[in-house]
Amino acid sequence: MESMGPLSPDTVRLVIVLVGLPARGKTYIGRKIRRFLTWLGYRARSFNIGDYRRQRLGYHHRHDFFDPNNVAGARARQEMATAALDDLIEWMKDGGGVGIYDATNTTVERRRHVFERCTAAGLQVVFIESVCEDPAIIEANIRETKLSSPDYVGMDPDEAVADFRARIEHYTRVYEPIQEEECSYIRLIDVGRVIVMHRIQGYLPGKLVFYLMNLHLVRRPIWLTRHGESEFNVVGRIGGDTGLTAQGEKYAQALAEFVRDHADQPPVVWTSTLRRTIETTAQLGVPSLQWRALDEIDAGICDGMTYAEIAEQMPDEYRARSADKLHYRYPRGESYQDVIARLEPVIIELERQRSPVLVVAHQAVLRALYAYFMDKEPEQCLRMAVPLGTVVELRPGPYAFHERRFALM
Ligand code: SIN
Repeated sequence: MESMGPLSPDTVRLVIVLVGLPARGKTYIGRKIRRFLTWLGYRARSFNIGDYRRQRLGYHHRHDFFDPNNVAGARARQEMATAALDDLIEWMKDGGGVGIYDATNTTVERRRHVFERCTAAGLQVVFIESVCEDPAIIEANIRETKLSSPDYVGMDPDEAVADFRARIEHYTRVYEPIQEEECSYIRLIDVGRVIVMHRIQGYLPGKLVFYLMNLHLVRRPIWLTRHGESEFNVVGRIGGDTGLTAQGEKYAQALAEFVRDHADQPPVVWTSTLRRTIETTAQLGVPSLQWRALDEIDAGICDGMTYAEIAEQMPDEYRARSADKLHYRYPRGESYQDVIARLEPVIIELERQRSPVLVVAHQAVLRALYAYFMDKEPEQCLRMAVPLGTVVELRPGPYAFHERRFALM
């Protein structure tokens, strides 16, 4: 295999080819990777063959369509696979960074074809194979994701499960686990219980292995909240390290009650290193961990000023920030993009935790974390309201996090 590409999100050109039987979490993995990389600033996009089939051929395909002996079905599936791969390669030629080819790709012949087409287009390929033989996980996956698929709209659930199992059987008859010596691949067994790496080298594939190692399927809430009202909040000054007001103390009390009412086990509690977040957790009665990575965006020479003062005394800075809030860096301070970069380990740790987690932090930091979990482009969240006195609850569902907001004040 050729050596790994450069590090920059602007120049990386990588194709991730998913491999595995149906209901092995390939789409889940593909979506997580796309979301993570998009959040980090890569141009990442998924091409799902099932979507091509549904869009171009309709929703009516029962298991016999996937029978390898069904000549017409095999031809139609081949056409969908080719259409998705053509689009992926075109998109990469147009400047795409990481293309994710989301399909079963269960035979050596199919994978060789995909590999040859991608490498002929100058693209690097990493296969990610998901293997799972745990009947409970497969059953849960079928019931949670396949029953709500457009393929089975209106069908009796037991009939739909039976049909999907028959589809899996068709694929199982031809499945050849990946073992191609010349390929780079990551094999995930039982949702990361075991991870095998073959010819994985370089920055981005290494980062992906690290990310995948920390994923799991345990459903637990993540609560995001700003600190209680601080002395600087009252006078509209940004940054600083002031303590809570009396109103802020009331929020600390309300937050402690919220956690007691909603946590079914002691939560993991994280704050920034700033006084106002630490004081907000003081009444929880559980230890908290302070992360410098959760500190508010560093406003550099503007720290301690009001926005009106910045507009008046530094109009060029004010205008530059309004024009490109994501990339604007306060003089001797940070940009949102800098904040996202320093939050990467927080995201990995949030993914890894299996208990409820309460994160008490600051507006810019919470916008960035929210963008990751809610699958938003960071730009979409830069002006999002994260009001004081509110807990944003994020709960993982089969493919996405679901949000609820609790206004406690
Ligand atoms: C599908 O049509 O649903 C998936 C086809 C495949 O990846 O084999």
